[in-house]
Amino acid sequence: MGAHAATAGPRKIILDCDPGHDDAVAILLAHGNPQIELLAVTTVVGNQTLAKVTENALAVGTIAGITGVPFAAGCDRPLVRQLKTAGDIHGETGMDGPAQPEPTITVDRRHAVDLIIETVMAHEPGTVTLVPTGGLTNIAMAARKEPRIVERVREVVLMGGGYHVGNWSAVSEFNIIIDPEAAHIVFNEDWPVVMVGLDLTHQALATDEAIARIEAIGTSPATFVRELMDFFARTYQDHQGFDAPPVHDPCAVAYVIDPTIVSTVKVPLDIELRGTLTLGMTVADFRAPAPPGCNTSVAVDLDHGRFWDLVTDALERIGDVDLSATPSTPAEATA
Ligand code: BDR
Ligand code: CA
Repeated sequence: MGAHAATAGPRKIILDCDPGHDDAVAILLAHGNPQIELLAVTTVVGNQTLAKVTENALAVGTIAGITGVPFAAGCDRPLVRQLKTAGDIHGETGMDGPAQPEPTITVDRRHAVDLIIETVMAHEPGTVTLVPTGGLTNIAMAARKEPRIVERVREVVLMGGGYHVGNWSAVSEFNIIIDPEAAHIVFNEDWPVVMVGLDLTHQALATDEAIARIEAIGTSPATFVRELMDFFARTYQDHQGFDAPPVHDPCAVAYVIDPTIVSTVKVPLDIELRGTLTLGMTVADFRAPAPPGCNTSVAVDLDHGRFWDLVTDALERIGDVDLSATPSTPAEATA
């Protein structure tokens, strides 16, 4: 079981992502919220190729004015399966819509898997939370490469899965089905896993009211989010019939910031690896109260108003960012 140090101060997180419109909002929320200390941003293939999502992460970091945080690229394909990407929802670049600035952040020379391991091992046990918002390839690889991280990680709070509904198939969600073997590893390791799945994130709709609040901020990061949401709204309408798009990934960050905004229930969870109709399903066993030692939970209810308060507040705190600022060059970075 992962250690649970009761730490004062901001929660230290590693955000492992595949930007991605909603991943971008997750990065901005993590950076702009004072309860979060962003230790690293790592990328994994998913919404688009690794090269594209890494470029997008650097662009978001630039737009947010993030400095001193390493950004590293990770796995460029799933552990076992053929690669799938989500261009229908996220476009050709993986973050279509707004114009992207030339990044002023350079990518770290370390592989994301090594950066995750080094970061977890360098901090006190029970203090680092992993927040994956893409497929779980990097996290699974890190757990296999350095098994000691499992007992050191405070918890894994991931966006993925769903116990009612899927989005890639009837029962499977994209971040899980893109690499179900990796998900199987992560869900079966002996660390606490909180699954912030579609059951929850389909409540995180970017309504007209939420977007109007963001637009009213008037800064360049806020305008960037509004433009991201314009594109995301169109693809979610066209491909999934949503009237307002569900902004999945920041919900995992919101849970870390304040679990009263994202309520959870403990339940045994596992990943289907063999079903012809159910590959990648996150199977939740609600038949009885969770047995002692169960270390998996699912997110159930979102406080929609307070969630958007958090996103709005983070953007207000970030303020306007001077995009001509000096490039961030973390100690380990290379040009
Ligand atoms: C998840 O898949 C991706 O397209 C989104 O960024 C999110 O992480 C939703 O199923
Ligand atoms: Ca994502």
